[in-house]
Amino acid sequence: QATTEIDLSKIAPGQAIKASFRKQPLFVRNLTPKEIAEADAVPLSELRDPQTLAERTKPGKKNWLITLGVCTHLGCVPLGAGEGENKGPYGGYFCPCHGSAYDTAARIRKGPAPLNLLVPDYKFDSDTTVTVG
Ligand code: FES
Repeated sequence: QATTEIDLSKIAPGQAIKASFRKQPLFVRNLTPKEIAEADAVPLSELRDPQTLAERTKPGKKNWLITLGVCTHLGCVPLGAGEGENKGPYGGYFCPCHGSAYDTAARIRKGPAPLNLLVPDYKFDSDTTVTVG
């Protein structure tokens, strides 16, 4: 279907789930205050694809990081959401195919991927429900 509804109520701080959106993996992550602080502490000049966490989340909802789970190198599904968590050296997601590492804002930090994990269009329907697409 064209849109995907996500129930946020069961995603604890520090947890990331894997859902699906238009047949692609979708990562929904509830960032801890520490993970938010880590993302905010990175100077934009250090980023390959410079974007702040605030630009990648909704106003007042900085803890909810919603991205496609598709590595921007060659499209593998990074680890770090759901089972078998391996968040990689920057604490976000790690792509095992060729070693791209993403930070707690899902921004590319190391490895061959050129861009951050893509943030899809979405909106909050309530504090605990999001519609993606
Ligand atoms: Fe992810 Fe190559 S597809 S690093």
